[in-house]
Amino acid sequence: MRRKPLREVRARVCAGLRGDVVEVGFGTGLNSPYYASGVTTLYAVEPSQVGMRIATPRVEKNDVPLEPAGLTGERLDLPTERFDAALSTWTLCTIPNVDAALSELLRVLKPGGTFHFVEHGHAPDPGVARWQDRIEPFWKPIAGGCHLTRRMPEIIEKAGFTIDDLDTYYFKGELKPFGYTYEGRAHKN
Ligand SMILES: C[S@@+](CC[C@H](N)C(=O)[O-])C[C@H]1O[C@@H](n2cnc3c(N)ncnc32)[C@H](O)[C@@H]1O
Repeated sequence: MRRKPLREVRARVCAGLRGDVVEVGFGTGLNSPYYASGVTTLYAVEPSQVGMRIATPRVEKNDVPLEPAGLTGERLDLPTERFDAALSTWTLCTIPNVDAALSELLRVLKPGGTFHFVEHGHAPDPGVARWQDRIEPFWKPIAGGCHLTRRMPEIIEKAGFTIDDLDTYYFKGELKPFGYTYEGRAHKN
């Protein structure tokens, strides 16, 4: 997750974040060097306490106040319509109930609030998609519950977001079934 090409994507996805931001699947804080200067407080949702411990010095170095904001994206103990933006990088593949997590993000965002994301998922090429279907049952248990076949834009729109920008591509250097990428922005109406 620390490779240089991923860092370039992190920088693009975090650009323009502002105000109070909820990051779901905060991990070890690898996005923190890229939070835009307009971010006032980062609310981190992350089940792994080890991840949070590794992240704390990383985030402090970047002068963005960090608030731990719970252990699971599916049930946010955060107020409704309180946040300016939400962020998810390579996390929606892993959350068991991704629909619930996206509904929660929608709930806590203010109207007009933005959702910045980069995720991998279902590939449009039938040959690659077939491999994804075959590999996923073996991959999921060894990869922390990571799904390969989620159709991210459909899932995001079904939750009630409007997608404004979407870039899709196979991530260079990644095997195609693992690397079909959805990078974009959405907002709450
Ligand atoms: C592949 S990692 C990505 C971490 C980080 N976003 C990054 O870009 O480096 C997926 C993250 O999702 C977290 N996660 C797993 N289940 C979750 C859940 N139900 N709610 C929120 N985060 C979850 C994992 O602990 C892990 O940190």
